[in-house]
Amino acid sequence: MKKVMKILGLVLGSVVLLLAGFCAYVAAVGVPIYDPPAIPKTTVAVTPSRVVRGEVIAQIQCMSCHTDKDKHLTGKYLAEVPALFGKLYSKNITQDKEKGIGNWTDGELIYFLRTGIRRDGSYAAIMPQYPNMADEDLQSVVAWLRSDRFPVQASKQEPQSSELSFVSKLLTHTLMKPLPYPQSFIPQPDSNDLVALGKYTADAIGDCYSCHSGDLVDQDKVHTTKTKGYYGGGIEMVGEGGQKVITANLTFDEETGIARKYTREQFIRAVKSGVRPDGSILKYPMEPKIVLSDREVGAIYDYLKTVPKIKNDIAKKNAELQLVEK
Ligand code: HEC
Ligand code: HEC
Repeated sequence: MKKVMKILGLVLGSVVLLLAGFCAYVAAVGVPIYDPPAIPKTTVAVTPSRVVRGEVIAQIQCMSCHTDKDKHLTGKYLAEVPALFGKLYSKNITQDKEKGIGNWTDGELIYFLRTGIRRDGSYAAIMPQYPNMADEDLQSVVAWLRSDRFPVQASKQEPQSSELSFVSKLLTHTLMKPLPYPQSFIPQPDSNDLVALGKYTADAIGDCYSCHSGDLVDQDKVHTTKTKGYYGGGIEMVGEGGQKVITANLTFDEETGIARKYTREQFIRAVKSGVRPDGSILKYPMEPKIVLSDREVGAIYDYLKTVPKIKNDIAKKNAELQLVEK
């Protein structure tokens, strides 16, 4: 018996030592650096129609995180991220060659937006990746970044550096990994198939699932439907003035699903204008998606109808939160 205890003690001791060693390692190296990737050699033609489409995508993605007070994409503090992850800042992605991305090639931008890896192998863990965006749409984003539009014009504003918490660093050694570069062409969805258009708009363009699922980190970004608590909501985010805001359950669950309580028209209005049918305003960080077409947002509604229902009572969680905060 004594012998067994001794062995157990030794095993436990080594596990603790190993864990402590791993934590010290993580604290020391920070975010891991990968091998510099093979960057695709491609040049994106900047056409007027691509710039227009790129701007739509940029308005619901890039601009919400990268636009500073001066309306240029010079980077800003990401206040909605819970403090647990550290103090996070986005970067200057204007056309400035020194402070911005004026020196990046089109291939480097495309590789980065797909995988999260820069040309030197460094990994931007906090920046979302776009593994399922159609090739044409991704090229439109690049065309917009290269265009003469105001927000992307060169600015020398120095971006602030993020201070990642230990938790964030630990996550970049465990759950958060760069994504593989897609091996084949990614087509646009069939625009006659509303459910397919809705899934594409919600998951590949709007990134709705990443806020409206079960966990901010534990997500399957390539096979989005496998994400934990897919569209069941319940993530606690930081809203205006530091108050907690819980993301909505967008499944069509009979009791707790939110989308079910909306007609298709009301859903389109709410998502595009940020106002619920009862007149109440959707709280930050749920931002109105004015630039999406009625057809695209209606298609999201049609798609959400097909998503497996999840019972998750957000109204109850919100009520509990208010009790705690009072
Ligand atoms: C949720 C917020 C968020 C969104 C949305 C977002 N970014 Fe970022 N982006 C960041 C953060 C944060 C960083 C810095 C990441 C790091 O250094 O780890 C970053 C970094 C970058 C970089 C690297 C810049 C450099 O100097 O290293 C590029 C390029 C970039 N973003 C482009 C884009 C484009 C284009 C879009 C829209 C398709 C976009 N981002 C959408 C938050 C965001
Ligand atoms: C940055 C995170 C984030 C993203 C991205 C996001 N949402 Fe939200 N959404 C929220 C939060 C937080 C709430 C809750 C707001 C509140 O309580 O007032 C919300 C609420 C909603 C509601 C209202 C539900 C209700 O309570 O009546 C709808 C509808 C909705 N989102 C749809 C969408 C759609 C569609 C997309 C993608 C186009 C999307 N959201 C993207 C965070 C997000």
